[in-house]
Amino acid sequence: MTEEELYTTYKGVYLPKVVHSTESLKYYEEFSFRPDDILIVTYPKSGTTWMQEIVPLILSQGDPELVDTVPNWDRVPWLEETRACDLNLDQRPSPRVFITHFKYDMMSTGFFKVKPRVIYVMRNPRDVFTSYFHFSRMASYLVTPGTQAEFLHKFLDGKAIFGSWFDHVKGWMSSAEQQHIMYISYEEMILDLEASVTRMAQFLDTPLDSEMIRKITDRCVFKNMKKNKMSNYSLVPSTMMDQNVSEFLRKGIAGDWKNHLTVAEAEHFDEFYQKKMQDVKYNFFWD
Ligand code: A3P
Repeated sequence: MTEEELYTTYKGVYLPKVVHSTESLKYYEEFSFRPDDILIVTYPKSGTTWMQEIVPLILSQGDPELVDTVPNWDRVPWLEETRACDLNLDQRPSPRVFITHFKYDMMSTGFFKVKPRVIYVMRNPRDVFTSYFHFSRMASYLVTPGTQAEFLHKFLDGKAIFGSWFDHVKGWMSSAEQQHIMYISYEEMILDLEASVTRMAQFLDTPLDSEMIRKITDRCVFKNMKKNKMSNYSLVPSTMMDQNVSEFLRKGIAGDWKNHLTVAEAEHFDEFYQKKMQDVKYNFFWD
């Protein structure tokens, strides 16, 4: 099916109609944040699901009950998704944890007023692209990506859902609310998950001893997390996500793009990247 059939355009970006209804977008616009809320912000395919495992485990000081019994979409709800409206989020005790894929300029007035804590996770866009391509093949609510070359054009042009990776990262990097935001990359988490968990715990004012950090890290490494049916999307019907086509927790590595992009595609990507990111003064992990 086409973009016109499957997507709605909201604040200039495509969103899949099935998971973002008019009501859910209104719900998000009117959502009342609390100052101690924790908002995990990602461009899709940058490590959202991973964070839905890590942050609850930090807050529970390693107690796995929540991550073992509650699916990630209810444990750490996606604010702009239809499901959020049904979860009585205003009844949840603090600190509440949510995710959003929205760009900075799509955030609500309530967000800018209350300034909750944000963990912004970014990932090498080449790997985001690769992960997104495979995900688009297995999720029935997304437009099938066509060939890799075709999807590359869409991705670079910001015609994938949630818009341009470049706009997303640039917007959040230049936020005026930096004192409330912790920036971390997927690659740092791959390289040293213990150090990443420690840094997140400090940001969230949750003291953890080394045994707790080790326990959390062990649960969240790819091969272990992949076994958690509350986190691996195996509870989602195959009519919505066909994991026989591509698993949601697919490879979980940094640099898989090298196995997929042709030399010409990688060069085109680099050229595009340099042009788009030339004014950003930040040492990205993959630069
Ligand atoms: P790959 O498709 O490259 O494997 P999101 O949750 O934002 O949609 O991102 C999905 C990507 O994060 C997938 O990347 C998935 O495998 C990866 N991921 C999820 N959990 C992970 C973990 N514990 N360790 C490493 N990567 C993980």
